[in-house]
Amino acid sequence: MSVRIPNHNGSFAERVLAWFDEHGRKHLPWQQDVTPYKVWVSEIMLQQTQVTTVIPYFERFMASFPSVFALASASQDEVLHHWTGLGYYARARNLHKAAKVLVDEYDGNFPTDIEAVIALPGIGRSTAGAILSLSRNQRHPILDGNVKRVLARYYAIEGWPGQKSVENALWEVAEKHTPETRCAHYTQVMMDLGAMVCTRSKPKCDACPLQSGCLAYAQGAQSAFPGKKPKKALPVKSTYMMVARFHQQVYLEQRPPTGIWGGLYGFLESTSVEEGVGALKLRGIQVESTHQLEGFRHTFSHFHLDITPVVAVIDLPPTKQVAELPSQWFVLNEPIEVGLAAPTQKIIKQLA
Ligand code: ADE
Ligand code: SF4
Repeated sequence: MSVRIPNHNGSFAERVLAWFDEHGRKHLPWQQDVTPYKVWVSEIMLQQTQVTTVIPYFERFMASFPSVFALASASQDEVLHHWTGLGYYARARNLHKAAKVLVDEYDGNFPTDIEAVIALPGIGRSTAGAILSLSRNQRHPILDGNVKRVLARYYAIEGWPGQKSVENALWEVAEKHTPETRCAHYTQVMMDLGAMVCTRSKPKCDACPLQSGCLAYAQGAQSAFPGKKPKKALPVKSTYMMVARFHQQVYLEQRPPTGIWGGLYGFLESTSVEEGVGALKLRGIQVESTHQLEGFRHTFSHFHLDITPVVAVIDLPPTKQVAELPSQWFVLNEPIEVGLAAPTQKIIKQLA
C-alpha cells in the first residue's frame, strides 16, 4: 500500500510566490508607480467589480483626481459621475468622505497603522490589509472573496464564509501563511490565484502551485467549497419612473444623500402613473399625455425592482422648478455630468 505524501515544493508562501514571479499580474495601472492613494482607490473599485471593468474607470478617476487633495476638494456630483456604471455607490461616497478625513486629519497622507486605516469610511480589515501590504509591503493577511475561495478549497473548510465561525477559521489560515517578506507580492498573488486559477467554476488545478496539499483537489470536491449562502428568495418591489419629456429634454432630480442611489440623479418615482403625474404637477410640470415603455427588472443584493418607465409628454416649455431637491432638465444625446444609476442610464439610452 502506498500513501500519497504531498510533495510540497517549498512552503505555501514560497510556492505561490514562485508562481507570481512567472504568472502574476504586474502591469495593472495601479501597480505602476505605486502609491497608497492609487492602491486605495483601486481596491475600493475592485471590491465588487472585475479588473477589466475597473481599468478604464480607474484611469479616468486618476486623471480627474490625481491626488487625495483633488479628490477631497471635488464635489460629490463629480465623484459620483466618475462612478456611474460601477454600481455600489456607497463606495464612492465613502471614498470621498475618507479623502476629506485624510486631508483634515493626516495632512493628506495615508495612515501607516492598520487600525487607523480600518477606521476610515468604507475600509474593512481585508481592504486595509491589502492597501498596506500592496503599497507599503507591510505584513497583513487579506481575506477577500478570491482568497476565501482558495483557502476554503485548500483546507476543505466547510460552511458559508458569511458565517462568523467559518470566516474566523479562514482568517486563521490566512494569517498563518502570510510571509514576513515580499508581503506585497504575496497579497497580489493570492488575489491573482483566486481570479486566474482557483476560479469559481472550472478551477485550473493542473496549473495551480497549491495542487499538492489541496484537500478539495484531493477529494475532487472543488465545487463544494466555499459553502454557499443558505438562500432566501429575494422580495420583489415595483416602481414607475416618470420620464417627463419636453422635446429632447428630460427632467431628473437628485435623490436624497442616503439610501438606494443616494446622491445620484434619477427620474421621479411613483407607485402609479396618476400619482406620478400629480407629483410632476407639484413641481410645475404639466403633463399632456403619458405612455409606458417596456418594463425591466433591476436586481439589488437584497431585492428585485421591477421598473416601468412612463414617458410623460410635456407640451409647454419647462417652467421654473419648485422642487426642494436639486433638479435639472438634461438634453438627450448630450453628456450628463452627474451620477446616474444604471436603470436611469438604460432608460435615457432608449429615448435617445
Ligand atoms: N482584486 C482586488 N484587488 C486586486 C488587485 N490588486 N489586483 C487584482 N485583482 C484585485
Ligand atoms: Fe484551487 Fe485547484 Fe489550486 Fe486547490 S488545486 S487551490 S482547488 S486551483
